[in-house]
Amino acid sequence: MRSELQSVAGSIPSSCLLRIFRAAQASAAGGAEVVKLHVGDPYFDPAGAVAGAFVDAVRRGDTKYTGVEGLPALREALVDKLRTDNGIDSAVSRLLITPGSCQGLAALLQSLAEPGAEILLPELHWPVHLQQSLLAGFRPVLYPLGPGFRPDLERIEAAATPDTRVLLINSPANPTGVVLTPGEITALLALARRRGWQVISDEAYEHFCYEREHVSVASFERDLPVGERIVHSVFTFSKSFAMTGYRLGYVALADDRTADVMKVVQEANIIGTSTPVQHAGIAAVAGRSDAAAANRKLVQRNRDVALPPLIQAGLLRELPAGGWYAMVDVTRSGLDAEEFALRLLERKGVAVVPGNGFAMRPDVDERGRIRSHDYAPWARHLVRVAFCVDPGWLETGVLKLIEFVDECAGGAR
Ligand SMILES: Cc1ncc(COP(=O)(O)O)c(C=O)c1O
Repeated sequence: MRSELQSVAGSIPSSCLLRIFRAAQASAAGGAEVVKLHVGDPYFDPAGAVAGAFVDAVRRGDTKYTGVEGLPALREALVDKLRTDNGIDSAVSRLLITPGSCQGLAALLQSLAEPGAEILLPELHWPVHLQQSLLAGFRPVLYPLGPGFRPDLERIEAAATPDTRVLLINSPANPTGVVLTPGEITALLALARRRGWQVISDEAYEHFCYEREHVSVASFERDLPVGERIVHSVFTFSKSFAMTGYRLGYVALADDRTADVMKVVQEANIIGTSTPVQHAGIAAVAGRSDAAAANRKLVQRNRDVALPPLIQAGLLRELPAGGWYAMVDVTRSGLDAEEFALRLLERKGVAVVPGNGFAMRPDVDERGRIRSHDYAPWARHLVRVAFCVDPGWLETGVLKLIEFVDECAGGAR
């Protein structure tokens, strides 16, 4: 008889994102019209030149393996982009192309993990950050956020232990939409430096800041010698250039040693990133300024037009300062977020993600497996709405959500 699966992976419950994704798919397959506000997939497309470069590469047979670190031309273009747009001093030797930033994050975490090491994540986080940390062998330590879901230095310090090795920063944040100020970034970096931690900066939503310019965490250490730098930055083509299905990202490592380690990890994981997709990436970087500005405008218009009714209905405190998501407070419905999301899908055909999916608190055993888990209680009143979707859908979905809260509050459950 086969013994029960004891792997770390086997101990990780499937995320609420996946559950709602499946429920929405089942509704749609059953013929129901579903307003999809649960996934961060944009309603707009990449520039024509991006598809053209992909097709051209395929047609001319440029479809062999590239090196594990990616095409030199793409890496050079990205080093230039990081210098001029992000203020980051990278180098081709320290920049790796990855099949999506999700895979880049996973490989980076595998490169940094050491037995018993802890990683600091915010209590309200993108579930993939938690899953990947566990899979890489980190013990996740979740620190409570301050008012407005902002990081609070004292709480982070209090959560840290002598085993802490990495602090993960995600600004603009998924799911909260919080954009860190330069002052907050400086303080977080100073803390990490003082405590000997490395920093992972996930900047997937770098082009979606609506109140102020995006500031890259690694820009604060561009004048330091490479050997003293601690920030590894992760970027994606998915959001800025609407290339979610192409699967293309990149990681700018703080130092050459970590870059070399990650090359070994990537050789084992992927061998390389799709060659035609990297050619599409070269076209995207060349046309980046226009594309990113146009895409930001589309999402900002969605935010400014469709989300204010949520504020008027008392379900949202303020418009998100960045990213693609709003955390909506459905306490007034009297329903737990998970039940709310399922009923909203059933009754109104609108898919949103329950907040507890972003606030799992695992109890991890000595071998890195989840023994048990619960959810931060305050997240049971939140649902996440993605506002990167078709404006008509978004407006309809938001109005139906408000209507549903009102019906529940009025006792018409
Ligand atoms: C915070 C954050 N980081 C990274 C990603 C990964 O994007 P991709 O793997 O498409 O590059 C996402 C996707 O939603 C995200 O929300």
